[in-house]
Amino acid sequence: MPVTVLVGSQWGDEGKGKMIDYLSPKMDLIVRFQGGDNAGHTVINDKGVFKLHLVPSGIFEENCTSLIGTGTAVNPDVLLEELKQLNEHGVDTDRLFISGRAQILMPYHRELDALMEEHSGIGTTKRGIGLCYAHKMLRKNLRFADLNDSEEDLRAKIRRALEYVNLELTAYGAKPYTEDEMYELLSGWKKALGDRIVEPVNFLHNYIKEEKNILFEGQLAAMKDIDLGIYPYVTSSNPVAAYAAVSGGFPAKEIDRVLGVAKAFSSAVGGGAFPTESEDEEIQILRGDGDKPDDEFGARTGRSRRLGWFDAPIVKYTNMINGYDSLALCKIDKLDDLDEIKICTGYLLDGEPIDYMPGNNALERVEPVYEVLPGWKSSTRDVRYIEDLPENAQNYIKRIEELTGTTIDYVGVGPGRDEIAIRKTKE
Ligand code: GDP
Ligand code: IMO
Ligand code: MG
Repeated sequence: MPVTVLVGSQWGDEGKGKMIDYLSPKMDLIVRFQGGDNAGHTVINDKGVFKLHLVPSGIFEENCTSLIGTGTAVNPDVLLEELKQLNEHGVDTDRLFISGRAQILMPYHRELDALMEEHSGIGTTKRGIGLCYAHKMLRKNLRFADLNDSEEDLRAKIRRALEYVNLELTAYGAKPYTEDEMYELLSGWKKALGDRIVEPVNFLHNYIKEEKNILFEGQLAAMKDIDLGIYPYVTSSNPVAAYAAVSGGFPAKEIDRVLGVAKAFSSAVGGGAFPTESEDEEIQILRGDGDKPDDEFGARTGRSRRLGWFDAPIVKYTNMINGYDSLALCKIDKLDDLDEIKICTGYLLDGEPIDYMPGNNALERVEPVYEVLPGWKSSTRDVRYIEDLPENAQNYIKRIEELTGTTIDYVGVGPGRDEIAIRKTKE
């Protein structure tokens, strides 16, 4: 399986970081293919507890190279801070490269994101992601390869960007930026990151040609996709499997495997439709109080996550989009103590059952239909094979497979790298 793409299958925060860390020993290259430092991918392994924002979650594996890909929006200051923290924990980051075509996220993107968020109420992470992607489409951004330009060429690109950006800033009553201050900032980033910049298309094709194992790391999930998600409460990129090929510059038919990651219940950060959101005590108790790394608080913003029961129509819909070869179902251990567990099997729209995913406005109005399954009331933390899980846990997994049309090959039973149950037949 040389080319695997791993994506979130719900609203984000499903456990992608943990799954990538788990799979990384088998990989030669891991590529973050979209998004920016809005991501919070939690990795808990023998090196410590990490909330990765930009660095691919395979960085801990000595024989694996990491690439921040073309489809990303990268704040170099955040990246440098993250690299520093990893180095302080003894993690070697020399094998991290950055696509010369990746977008540089500038301080004004963050500033404008915060200013716009005051009016829009989308609930963005205020990391400048939407603005950086908007300016990419307007062709006003700088990209990492530009850092290696001559001073004259780089200054010309800064002027082109600022000519537009300062209009936006002043319209919000904010202070404009000067060419000199931007040049100084970019020169510092060139010094710190210049050696890591690569032309990504050949870089990737060489790995593909040699049949190396490549894992593409998606950020967020299809329900937050700019085109296919709950617009406008979405991110500004495409967290879907096909975008790994689009942004990577290789044929989509080179993708051998798509692995979706789902949480055994539902969570979301920010606004927008969330049909199974629930105030049920059994669900709310899953949040914890924030002192454990797997409590339900945003890994990026610390916001309390919205919580609900497992929503099968959502994962069925994202399976239509991504085509999962298999699914990793994380956090099943969080349900260990429940007497009964609800699964949403379908929706009623205006009182009538529907068998399709409705558009946005209608999704806000649907009423979930639930089936109630008995809990298993025992710890799954030490189980390492799906076949050894308590019978009721296996039934829960089977029911999710039936309802979503997927095969679950991995079950997360705890936050640590090794806390995963796999199928005996696929070992
Ligand atoms: P990501 O954005 O998809 O990488 O997910 P996050 O890291 O934002 O959120 C997932 C949370 O669940 C993190 O706190 C992980 O440590 C935790 N986690 C992942 N898998 C499991 C699991 O199987 N069991 C438990 N208890 N926690 C898990
Ligand atoms: P990972 O990779 C959960 C949400 C924000 C907001 C919307 C747009 O850890 O799954 P943005 O800052 O991207 O313009 O915000 O998307 N959001 C996330 N929610 N996990 C994330 O990342 C998120 N990144 C963005 O809350 O609703
Ligand atoms: Mg996250």
